[in-house]
Amino acid sequence: MSDMRKVSHRPARPRPPTVLGALSRGAKTLDRAGVFFGHGSNNAEDDAATMLFHVLDLKTTPGPAVYRRRLTLRQTEAFDAMLELRISTRRPAVYLTGRTWFAGLPMRTDARALIPRSPLAELIENQFRPWIDPARVKRVLDLCTGGGCIALAAAYYLSKAKVEGMDISDEALALARENSRDLRLSRRVRFAKSDHFAALKGRQYDIIISNPPYVGEREMRSLPPEYEHEPRLALAAGKQGLDSVRVILKQAARHLTPGGLLVVEVGNTEMRVRHHWPRVPFMWLEFERGGGGVFLLTREQLQRHVR
Ligand SMILES: C[S@@+](CC[C@H](N)C(=O)[O-])C[C@H]1O[C@@H](n2cnc3c(N)ncnc32)[C@H](O)[C@@H]1O
Repeated sequence: MSDMRKVSHRPARPRPPTVLGALSRGAKTLDRAGVFFGHGSNNAEDDAATMLFHVLDLKTTPGPAVYRRRLTLRQTEAFDAMLELRISTRRPAVYLTGRTWFAGLPMRTDARALIPRSPLAELIENQFRPWIDPARVKRVLDLCTGGGCIALAAAYYLSKAKVEGMDISDEALALARENSRDLRLSRRVRFAKSDHFAALKGRQYDIIISNPPYVGEREMRSLPPEYEHEPRLALAAGKQGLDSVRVILKQAARHLTPGGLLVVEVGNTEMRVRHHWPRVPFMWLEFERGGGGVFLLTREQLQRHVR
């Protein structure tokens, strides 16, 4: 009598990983591939989490129990495919997922506009305190609005204000309007095409806020490949990166109400701005969540110091 037992010759399928395991493997893969982080996340763990949470359809940051859950085979494959795409194309993670967060608000994001990541989010969440009394803010202008994140966040946190978002790019404006509809803010936010202030003759605002293009020619050439997926128009600002800032400084005062504020992000072009306008009393803001290169000026300072 033979004692042969039934033996399966199929190779055992590896067990799908836990969420924690997938995250750690994904982060290591991204690190090894040398991708650049800086479009909403600044490290491999967050970049991997952005993609994995998208695959798992998790809308918010999950509780600790989620990390012990096992992925399905399909989820594992979808995550691997996204990692592969992230590495082979160098497309930023949130362009792959199509969504991100700004000032706590969900935003659609795609190649029509820059990925929202400005430190200005923190100032807006604080309703521009202590620089202005939020109750007196009736009208806000977001110049160079892109996908509308700053304009929409301003409308959300200043619930009595009317907000206008201007951009020269039709594609960016289309995305801004989609975001506005999603957030149900279209009643108080108007998006329109304008080359800086050109379409705004005679209009005045209590706050003008802007994250304009500010990358100089030399820096443009040395940017990591991830930036090539963003519109060039959103980044490049002439030889020194000052083209947009120059127009804003020159024209902002006539579009501000008395006591009104101009707030502009210039990122690491800050040194060049200081050097170029040594007599302008820029107030450089600090942020608890990091980031910098943001100046604030009042209408009166602009009138007195900017020719
Ligand atoms: C750095 S992106 C900022 C986008 C968005 N405000 C944000 O913070 O994510 C700069 C934006 O300025 C726009 N822009 C470039 N030149 C402009 C001009 N001459 N007039 C108005 N907008 C301009 C670009 O299309 C782009 O959307």
